[in-house]
Amino acid sequence: MVKDLVWDNILSVGVDEIDEDHRKLIHIFNILNHAVMDGESGEYLAATLEELVNCTVWHFSHEERLMLKYRYPEHQAHQAEHQDLIQSAKQLQQDLVAPDKALADQQIQFLERWLTEHILTADGRLGAYLSRAM
Ligand SMILES: [Fe+2]
Repeated sequence: MVKDLVWDNILSVGVDEIDEDHRKLIHIFNILNHAVMDGESGEYLAATLEELVNCTVWHFSHEERLMLKYRYPEHQAHQAEHQDLIQSAKQLQQDLVAPDKALADQQIQFLERWLTEHILTADGRLGAYLSRAM
């Protein structure tokens, strides 16, 4: 069983519009976590993971627009990290295609790290830069 992610100030990157997106992503992650715990159908899990991936893709374009607008020096590296993250999430979606194949705790933990590590490292640096530039 994987614990829910709880929004905490430590996750704040200091830019409200980015924090707002991250809260939403955490919310969907928790819905997915509960779906696994409750033994929801493969179809439901796939739909929830799809929602998480779509929301993440949208959020990344939001950050990419801000990086361009404020000429973020680490833009390329950050964008490459986004692309990697999307690739691994899509891989997870492929693994989930088989009917009734529930997401294992291991996969949920992978998603949890995926979400928090990026927020705490790359997004933290971006937020610090944007707080000064915006
Ligand atoms: Fe990011």
